[in-house]
Order: sequence, then structure tokens, then C-alpha cells
Amino acid sequence: MRMLILGGTVFLSRAIAEYAHRAGHDVTCVARGISGTVPAGVHHLRLDWDDPAAMATLRGETFDVVVDVARRPSQVRRFVELLGEGTGHWIFVSSISVYADTTVPDGGVGVTPLLPPLAADADETDVANYGSAKVSCEDAVRQAVPGRELIIRAGLIVGPGDPTDRFTYWPVRLARGGEILAPGDPADPVQIIDVRDLAAWIVAAAERGLRGTFDGVGPVISRGEVLERIADGIGVRPRLTWVEQDFLVKHEVQPWSGERSLPLWLPLPEYAGMMTRDWVPARHAGLTARDVAETARDTLAWHRQRPDDHRWLAGLTSQQEAELLAAWHRR
Ligand SMILES: NC(=O)c1ccc[n+]([C@@H]2O[C@H](COP(=O)([O-])OP(=O)(O)OC[C@H]3O[C@@H](n4cnc5c(N)ncnc54)[C@H](OP(=O)(O)O)[C@@H]3O)[C@@H](O)[C@H]2O)c1
Repeated sequence: MRMLILGGTVFLSRAIAEYAHRAGHDVTCVARGISGTVPAGVHHLRLDWDDPAAMATLRGETFDVVVDVARRPSQVRRFVELLGEGTGHWIFVSSISVYADTTVPDGGVGVTPLLPPLAADADETDVANYGSAKVSCEDAVRQAVPGRELIIRAGLIVGPGDPTDRFTYWPVRLARGGEILAPGDPADPVQIIDVRDLAAWIVAAAERGLRGTFDGVGPVISRGEVLERIADGIGVRPRLTWVEQDFLVKHEVQPWSGERSLPLWLPLPEYAGMMTRDWVPARHAGLTARDVAETARDTLAWHRQRPDDHRWLAGLTSQQEAELLAAWHRR
């Protein structure tokens, strides 16, 4: 297959390029090349999606499949205008952030309402508009290539190459040992998908011509089990201290990501819908989810090749964690 990937220099889109190339497809990536490099053996067109004149060089090209990971509606509109007609199958990677209600557990495609599309005068680069921007991107794809589109609303993507640290924190933290602050209740739900599983599924979906809209999520497992699988994967026996979410909130620990945060933790019930989405439709359509132990082992190995002065984008520092644990034991 002749496949065009809009992206391909980092994480998911790079993994898709790698799997597609490995499967024998003729892969071209369109990216500036500032986030990284494309995999070996893949063609790289160094173009800026926001440069209309440069992008116009793609007009008239034909592809069996386009994979598009853009976040801005203006970019997706440009892509479909240039390439929609000449493309057999359009795969758009969206996000579960398109859903308007994060509180209701066990949601699914067609069940949970969507955010409104982004208003015409809204700033599409503002991260606060990410969900609505993805809704508008989806709409642009559906309108331009009706019946030829596959929309995958990804949940939390993790694994080697993840630039966000939203999972990496845990294998690295468990590997360091000592008393470890674990957030909330061990029974709280967690839902992740390994980047390699999602990428392999997207390539297989391209080969089969899969159409429709799916949540690209893995099975729901408890946070206690996730930490257990991580520990197994990296061969440690962690000393976990589970700290109630009210204490974390009171001590200004951030959920999910950023400074002074605890990844894989979202306060309940406000976010009960974020990590409990129905993965059965995707599983029936071919998505598989590997053991978290394997994800953890490979993520730790990948992390150990990063520079020592890597600036963490999520998690607690050792000092913050020690202070929080001391306060928890004093309470
Ligand atoms: N990570 C998660 O947990 C998560 C969760 C839900 C959904 N998603 C979705 O999953 C997808 C992830 O994609 P990803 O891993 O490839 O990371 P990404 O950061 O979304 O994609 C970046 C890719 O797009 C290229 N790009 C960005 N702006 C460009 C521009 N102006 N011109 C040319 N190329 C440009 C980048 O290349 P250069 O910078 O090198 O040009 C890079 O290859 C996204 O659609 C995201 O919304 C992610």
C-alpha cells in the first residue's frame, strides 16, 4: 500500500510509520522534522503543515491510505482539500477528549455526548480547546471523505518514546525503590494503551480498510493491578503507601500530569468516565493490549537511554514525595 502519514517523527505517528514500513508498505511521512526523525527506510517530506504553498506540492498525489494526527482544524481542512479526493482510506487519530462528559463511567462511541465543534473565532492552538478542536477535525474528515474514514479516539497512550512521562514516571519510580506514594484507592480504574499496540492496530486497520469510529483504548484495570504489573515487569517488590485522594487534593498534588503531579491518578467521581471507556468494540475490530509488565519493562529500558538531566513533565520529585509521605504519616 502507498501510505502517507501526516506526522511520523515522534511517538504514535512514528510507531505507525515503523510498523507500516516493516509490513512492507511504501510509507511517506510529512513533518517538519523538529520533533525527531522518521524511521529508517521511510520517505520524509519536510513540510510545514501551516505553509499553504509548501503543502500545495502534495496536490494531485494519490494514496491508498492517509494517517492524520493533527490537532488543528485548519490543518485538517487543508489536508482533506489537498488529498481527500485522491485517497482511498483516511485514518484520523482523534482523542477521548472529544467527549463532553468526563463523569459518567463506562461510556462508548455514540453513548457519551461530544463537545461542540470549535467556534470559528476560537484559538485552535489553545490547549484548553483541544477537545473541541478534535471534534472539528473529525467533522472535516467525515465531510470530505464520507464512508472512507476511520476515526480513532485514543485514550492515554503509553510506552517507549512517550514524551509526556504520564506512564514513564511509574516504572522509573518503582525501580528507584524506598517507600512509594501511590495515589487514591488501589481499586480505582486505570485505562492505558501501549503505543505499539495502537500503531499495529492502525496499520492492520489500514490493510483491512476498517471504517467507522472507535475509542482506541485498552482494557480497564485497577491502579493496584497496574502497579503490580509494572513491578513484575521490572522485577521489583515495591513498598507502596496508598494515600487518599482528599489528602492529595488538600496538599495541592496535581492529577494526571505537570509539576507536583501523580500520573495515572484522576480525582473521582469527577473523572470517572476518563479511564473506563468501553474497549470491546476496538477489541472486536482487532485491537490487542499487551501485558502492562511488558510495557513497563520496555519503557524503563527506553527511559534509561534518555539524558540524565531529562526534564520531567509529570510526577513528584523525591523531595515532594518524601514531604507528602511524612505529612500523611503525621496526620
Ligand atoms: N499521547 C496521548 O496519550 C494521546 C491521547 C489521546 C490522543 N492522542 C492523539 O494521538 C496523536 C499522537 O500523535 P503523535 O504521537 O505523533 O504526537 P503528536 O505530538 O500529536 O504529533 C506530532 C507529529 O506531527 C508533526 N507536526 C506537528 N505540527 C506540524 C506542522 N506544523 N508541520 C508539519 N508537521 C507537524 C510532528 O512533526 P515535527 O514536529 O517533526 O514537524 C510530529 O511528527 C495525536 O493525534 C494526539 O492528539 C494522544
